Amino acid sequence: MKKIILTGDRPTGRLHVGHYVGSLSERVNLQNSGLYDEIYIMIADAQALTDNAEHPEKIRQNILQVALDYLACGIDPEKSTIFIQSMVPELTELTFYYMNLVTVSRVQRNPTVKSEIQQRNFEASIPVGFFCYPISQAADITAFHATAVPVGEDQLPMLEQCKEIVHKFNSIYGETLTEPEIILPSNKACLRLPGIDGKAKMSKSLGNCIYLSDEEDEVKKKVMSMFTDPNHLRVQDPGNVDGNPVFIYLDAFCKPEYFPEFLPEYQNLDELKDHYRRGGLGDVKVKKFLNKVLQAELSPIRERRKKWEQHLPDVYDILKEGSKTAESKAAQTLHDVRSAMKINYFDDNSLLK
Ligand code: TRP
Repeated sequence: MKKIILTGDRPTGRLHVGHYVGSLSERVNLQNSGLYDEIYIMIADAQALTDNAEHPEKIRQNILQVALDYLACGIDPEKSTIFIQSMVPELTELTFYYMNLVTVSRVQRNPTVKSEIQQRNFEASIPVGFFCYPISQAADITAFHATAVPVGEDQLPMLEQCKEIVHKFNSIYGETLTEPEIILPSNKACLRLPGIDGKAKMSKSLGNCIYLSDEEDEVKKKVMSMFTDPNHLRVQDPGNVDGNPVFIYLDAFCKPEYFPEFLPEYQNLDELKDHYRRGGLGDVKVKKFLNKVLQAELSPIRERRKKWEQHLPDVYDILKEGSKTAESKAAQTLHDVRSAMKINYFDDNSLLK
């Protein structure tokens, strides 16, 4: 069986460091591992429209931004197909057939949908399209026969729901669809990076993100303003590293070689944490170190982004070509789905018999 990756992001804003550690860097590693036969990275504009119907311009503006973020992180268009969801209309048709395999109460129980409905104050007025997006996500995944879906932890319920749809479809219509497996980051700190204000999630609306495209001085300003242990008031006070965003970021980003390079008085992160717990280590010193670590990680990404920004027509061509490639793959699956459901009336004249 072929090994195939499909994953994607909603283009509602530029991508941030939470996206990077939660999924983007993993995708780049998987891409470069050479273990996958096909890789599809989707800009999920149709999904983004399910809760932005009144602001299509916001989605449109972010198509190129997200594509630039992908290329900046090292997604290589020679190895991965980058495409735009709405340019593959087969996905919508698949969604329509899958909708019959899912109950309303099952979608209502999806924890991600539940919390997103709350966040958006949709309780009394959920757009039907929004409600159905887990089903459309199953169409995205199965259209490409994806075996692996590298995403953030918040997408686990989507993958569960997708697997159920695959089982149901295959049991009714015969083996047609492929069951996917979720790939989560192996580093626990990367599962969900908090915002710089310590809130559980980085989100554009909370204004607590460090973006991949932020300039050096913006990153520094954000790091120096980060929330830490609120009880660590004086340098000599003992501090808490658990749940402390500065240390969570270090857990996510710090590599052993950064100590000799930027903070040679410590051997490693454990030693730094011990000192903070004992007392005598100030927040400013830790933040300055984190800033250097982040700059080291982000500057190659920022540089690559700037290069691609000089070649926007190439980015446009990558998306256009990618969408064509993606559509032909999805069309094949749709053909197989229609045959399995016996709604392929004009493939031959057996309808007459
Ligand atoms: N739901 C994902 C997000 O919030 C985007 C997405 C749409 C996706 N379809 C997908 C991710 C299929 C993985 C697989 O960013």
